[in-house]
Amino acid sequence: MTQLFQSVPEWQEFKKTISGKTLGFVPTMGALHEGHLALMKKSMTENDLTAVSIFVNPTQFNDPNDLTHYPRTPKEDFALLESIGVPYLISPEISELYPDQYRYQVSEKEESKILCGAHRPGHFDGVLTIVLKLLNLTQADRAYFGEKDFQQLRLIQGMAKAFFIPTEIIACPTLREQDGLAMSSRNRRLTPEQRKLAATFPKVLREAKTPEKAIQDLRTQGFDIDYIEEHWGRRLGAVKLGAVRLIDNV
Ligand code: PAJ
Repeated sequence: MTQLFQSVPEWQEFKKTISGKTLGFVPTMGALHEGHLALMKKSMTENDLTAVSIFVNPTQFNDPNDLTHYPRTPKEDFALLESIGVPYLISPEISELYPDQYRYQVSEKEESKILCGAHRPGHFDGVLTIVLKLLNLTQADRAYFGEKDFQQLRLIQGMAKAFFIPTEIIACPTLREQDGLAMSSRNRRLTPEQRKLAATFPKVLREAKTPEKAIQDLRTQGFDIDYIEEHWGRRLGAVKLGAVRLIDNV
């Protein structure tokens, strides 16, 4: 049975009772898929206990429309957690996690301003702030993040170092569908035609000689491009198919 915590003090009280065991933590925004489950399974092999959070964090959505349409599948999510044996789910209301009404914020001044940060103003302030809150709240030994969101992962690693956060940040490889598309909660918003075309994105990202050539190829195929750029020894991209934004890196 997965135990559900919706109240912050309730979790804090409970945490004291498991202090002798190692705890792994996997923060998510729900609409769970195999990519999320891979993080949880890794945590479950590396720790005595594992807590998952599901919280659609409003402060990281710069586009209100994106927040409204973000997929929410609470019943299916809970069943998935139970099916793999995750012991704890932390899923509080907004007011529980933002008693300060987001007056206090974490921001990073360089790497958060490029790529997704340039196209989604304030996005990484929202991400870093909620992740700091969740890490302080859960007091986990290890926390697991996907390389699918590579810029996010780097920024969280940087924050953990900058603020001497004792939780170890563990990076996990990107899980992909059979046709190469990175698994994402947003994929379920694609029409069947868009879904088919979406597999071209990782393929071009991997195969194009230069970022410029990748942009050209993807535009020809009908993608809107936010960016394709190379940083940190990787090629990273964000594209749109209709209203659905996809990100990936290789
Ligand atoms: P969310 O998009 O739900 O992702 C939760 C975690 O799952 C992130 O660490 C993400 O990188 C990882 N993940 C998503 N798709 C993956 C895939 N295909 N393969 C491997 N890992 C994958 O990222 C967030 O939520 C939020 O920004 C959050 C960190 C929870 C803060 O609100």
